[in-house]
Amino acid sequence: MDKSAFGLFGLGVMGKSLCRNLAKNGFKIAMFNRHVDGVEVDVAKNFKANYSELSDASAFDDISAFVNALQTPRKIMLMVNAGKTIDYVIEDLLPHLSKNDILIDGGNSNYLKTKERGDYLKSKGIHFIGTGVSGGEEGALNGPSIMPSGDVEAYNNVKPFLDKIAAKDKNNLPCCTYVGPEGSGHFIKMVHNGVEYVEMQLLAEVCTILEASGQNLDEIANTLETWKSTTDSYLLGITIDILRKKEGNDWLVKKILDKAGNKGTGNWTTIASAELGVPSTLIASALFSRYTSFYKEERIQLNENFKTETTSSVNSTSTEVLEAYQFARIINHYQGFKLIAEASNKFSWGLNLSEIARIWTNGCIIRSTLMEELVIVFKETTNILTNTQLIASIKQYRPSAKKVVSQCILNDITAPCLGESIPFFNGITTANSSANILQAQRDYFGAHTYKRTDDDGVKSHHTIWK
Ligand code: 6PG
Repeated sequence: MDKSAFGLFGLGVMGKSLCRNLAKNGFKIAMFNRHVDGVEVDVAKNFKANYSELSDASAFDDISAFVNALQTPRKIMLMVNAGKTIDYVIEDLLPHLSKNDILIDGGNSNYLKTKERGDYLKSKGIHFIGTGVSGGEEGALNGPSIMPSGDVEAYNNVKPFLDKIAAKDKNNLPCCTYVGPEGSGHFIKMVHNGVEYVEMQLLAEVCTILEASGQNLDEIANTLETWKSTTDSYLLGITIDILRKKEGNDWLVKKILDKAGNKGTGNWTTIASAELGVPSTLIASALFSRYTSFYKEERIQLNENFKTETTSSVNSTSTEVLEAYQFARIINHYQGFKLIAEASNKFSWGLNLSEIARIWTNGCIIRSTLMEELVIVFKETTNILTNTQLIASIKQYRPSAKKVVSQCILNDITAPCLGESIPFFNGITTANSSANILQAQRDYFGAHTYKRTDDDGVKSHHTIWK
């Protein structure tokens, strides 16, 4: 039997789509899904039978047969649930693998765990690549954005497969690049998701504001449609589709329970920001907004206690809302890439921000015209707020951002990410902040000392304050 060139382990939604993508691109693949009595039976076999492009693929529910069906060094991509499952799967596979085989974790794994797993597998003679994969089911099938990191030599072995199945940028280059060492690929995927949380939240806030200014959902969709010419993105597009979806005479979205789920990557991004000392405040706001949404029963109860008679009516034009949205989006991207830049410095990863923005211009969830601009901006600077064009944009959008956010506050409208964009921007552009008072307080009660601005700035001072 001809051995397969690439193995896919785990046939969930993403795993299946990647299999079909690989097969459509002419690769001979082996596919594995476990057997669980009465629950997961003949999953690989049935999947193969359903799609003509898989006629050449081989299907397994036996690990040993699956591994033996692969050319060496074996290349096996794991598409199983992130977390402990990855470790169990690694242990299940290890006895069947040979030196120099390559395992690729394509799930949303924690970047610190990816480094640990890489070190562990290295000690066993196995190469490990942790890769972010973005684009959901549709992206996995037709071209995701792929963010591999880890063992560079092993990456070169799997590059032809990943490049081929990845989305293509506007110059027809694959939206896949070697990101850097260790878990840097999963790190940037994690930040991608944090930025995604904010982009989604901003659109939700924009819809609320436009509704409070008198537009119904069809009208909001039409308004957002006009924004495409200035600030297009995948998430803007799907939001328009969502707003237009009717069930009978009603908008479907109106019937969806307002409790937002999450699978943990926004949480990790916020934790990483805190650990690295980077103020990713919009990501934290978007995350905590999801958490707040979950307190549905308490919200209903407290709404009774605090509701006012006045109905909210926002006095902002659609153009002002658009500009507030654009302002917050720039801040979101500033914060997200700052987090990546700081991690790169701290871990000596040598990440290329322009290249990261480039592989996020297609296939992934946060692809947008702004991301296209950032590819060029990051060729000149690591700080987008020093770019002449973006400085001009921020100056143009800022008055609208201030007005719209003020209107939200005055009308009791919840807009945590739009709202946070203003104080964050004010903070990061304040030359002399109130942190001097904090330093004095720390010195007062804890003798933590402070630095002075009127000496060499190196010496530590302590004062007996009373
Ligand atoms: C992507 C998505 C994808 C998924 C995450 C986030 O890039 O394709 O980010 O990875 O949507 O699971 O989902 P939560 O909103 O559930 O955290």
